[in-house]
Amino acid sequence: TDRTLLLAGNWKMNHDHLEAISTVQKLAWALEDAKLDDSQCEVVVVPPFTDIRSVQTLVQGDKLWLRYGAQDVSRHEPGAHTGEIAATFLARLGCTYVVVGHSERRADNHETNDVVAAKVKAALGHDLLPILCVGESLAQREEGTHVDFTLTQLEESLDGLGAEDLQGLVVAYEPVWAIGTGKTATAEDAAEMATAIRARLRERYGDALADSTRILYGGSVKTDNVADILVSDDVDGALVGGASLSGPDFAALCKAAV
Ligand code: G3H
Repeated sequence: TDRTLLLAGNWKMNHDHLEAISTVQKLAWALEDAKLDDSQCEVVVVPPFTDIRSVQTLVQGDKLWLRYGAQDVSRHEPGAHTGEIAATFLARLGCTYVVVGHSERRADNHETNDVVAAKVKAALGHDLLPILCVGESLAQREEGTHVDFTLTQLEESLDGLGAEDLQGLVVAYEPVWAIGTGKTATAEDAAEMATAIRARLRERYGDALADSTRILYGGSVKTDNVADILVSDDVDGALVGGASLSGPDFAALCKAAV
């Protein structure tokens, strides 16, 4: 496909700004050793907010081809919102992406689909590409309602946005039961959902958006299972948690993916 392979490492709440510098440096060296470059894939690190300035300095100073992003964004414009981080601040720090609606934030911070949709809108309004996370719980998977649930979550998390607003959107399918558990969905499970998501995007927003939107799989992706997960034409990359925390390990995963 024309969709560039995307490998995004979500560090979650790991690595302070000093650890971030050494992790990104080691990742860059290991990618170079593995002879990977941006003609083969896009590699993104998603550190905590407090690390972003350090990552920017390193990436720009060393002219690295890596991209970086943030794990969340405020739905508000700058103003009286204590503790929030505006999309414009992230864009000015050179972030390309922002993860929105991760299941950990939906669970820990009561983020509803409405809130998530407002964040997607805020991101796109400031040239940040949202990586919108959707996915079902174990109970929903066992009941067999996983496809319906995930597609509803997708639609509601994009509520109020049209095809013209959504250029550059990335969707990450992350079954909650596969996150940090070592339980990976099978390649067939990932493919089934990615295909269903793309079909729904096609129905709602037309061919151009459905064909250009990248759909990632996330949930216990490792070096030894990434190639299998990527077999489907509808799976365009991975959102990686634990296996992205070490630079050399994440580079090995990227190498296995291309
Ligand atoms: O954002 C990343 C996902 O939640 C996956 O995390 O690779 O540690 O299972 P994990």
